Amino acid sequence: MNSYLLAEIIKTHGTPLFIYDGERIEENVQNLRSVFKTDALDIHYACKALSNRNIMKLIHKFGCGIDAVSIFEMQAALSAGIPASEINFTPSGAELSEYRFALDNNIKLHIDNAGKLEILAQEYPGLRVALRFNPDVRAGGHARLEVGAGDSKFGLYPEELPEVKRIIDQYGVQVTGVHCHVGSDIADEAYFIRAFEFLISVSELFPDNLELIDSGGGYKVRYKESDHPTDMERVGKAITKLFRKFCKTLGRELRLVIEPGKSLVSDAGYFIVQVTALKQTNRREIAYVNSGFNHFIRPMYYDAYHHIENLSNPTGKPKPYKVAGYLCETDTFALSRALPEIRVGDYLSFHNAGAYTMSMSSNYNMRPRPAEVLVYGNRNMLIRRAETLEDMLAPEIVVDIS
Ligand code: LLP
Repeated sequence: MNSYLLAEIIKTHGTPLFIYDGERIEENVQNLRSVFKTDALDIHYACKALSNRNIMKLIHKFGCGIDAVSIFEMQAALSAGIPASEINFTPSGAELSEYRFALDNNIKLHIDNAGKLEILAQEYPGLRVALRFNPDVRAGGHARLEVGAGDSKFGLYPEELPEVKRIIDQYGVQVTGVHCHVGSDIADEAYFIRAFEFLISVSELFPDNLELIDSGGGYKVRYKESDHPTDMERVGKAITKLFRKFCKTLGRELRLVIEPGKSLVSDAGYFIVQVTALKQTNRREIAYVNSGFNHFIRPMYYDAYHHIENLSNPTGKPKPYKVAGYLCETDTFALSRALPEIRVGDYLSFHNAGAYTMSMSSNYNMRPRPAEVLVYGNRNMLIRRAETLEDMLAPEIVVDIS
């Protein structure tokens, strides 16, 4: 994003601040669509990555539906004007009332629990659901991001199939789809292909009412120069081929669904902070910024690397810095990073700040969440104001403690 525009936005809205580039999101959608060479493709944006409703609307405008994992994400998507028919609900461990909400509102439900399937099958005669399976594929950019392996809480295990089959037959459940999601930050395309082969093998068990095969999300993006993002050409080609072959055998057209989150919004986001202090230690200099893991948790929770740019002194002489936050806890953004000389007051920009940053933020240390600005079509728009103390205190009920 051009530095003049960034400076303008920072001047208007202050820091900390999230800035999103709508055109980049549009490109990401187009690039992803182009590698799956089939009109049967439905992209459902995993809105947990960045859940601002303006972003949902924008991505919907680019032809995508929404993948939701809570009643609140479903309600937010509906209130953003996304039709129920374009929303999937793919929860794990959610409350039954959330599943009922999906069914009562004609939102496609993907279920991964046999007990819940039986309860809902009794309540909703002729229940139509997609089944989420655990493909037993261990992959992801961090142990916390591997969710498709044999010991994960997600997805129906193959050994549950006899029980699932019994429920389907007993209550006349219509299995309209099969689904899996292996994990996040997966570089090697072989994992996606293996999981898709697994999906085809289970699809063969439910041929009658099948409408879709959903292979989830999880594509790796480039956080640093040396990163190898997922080779999407290869994923698209291999999956489309397997999909076409299966449809041919079935003698019917199905929908091919993918649920990307990170790969649509990550590189469209910038998180701008200001340097509040410097401290020279005998190891290296520490630069303190006006944020912490309350706004940007990925470096601390997943040991994630995020490129840092010194917007105020881009040509300064590089030296190693520890970049730390303002929380009363260890909140190291970078342990030892060569950055152009940092001065107090400089603005730093974290790259790849679109996905799983604002949406994973909290009010820890009673720090308000930052504002969000969307730049799209020659306009920059405030799409969420910064929180205030009043916002944070509002849910509290003051009782008489005496
Ligand atoms: N579908 C399902 C069912 C999911 O659970 C997820 C992400 C996605 C799709 C989208 O995955 P993506 O394309 O964004 O990798 N907070 C972590 C990522 C957690 C992903 C959780 N599920 C991070 O910051 O890396």
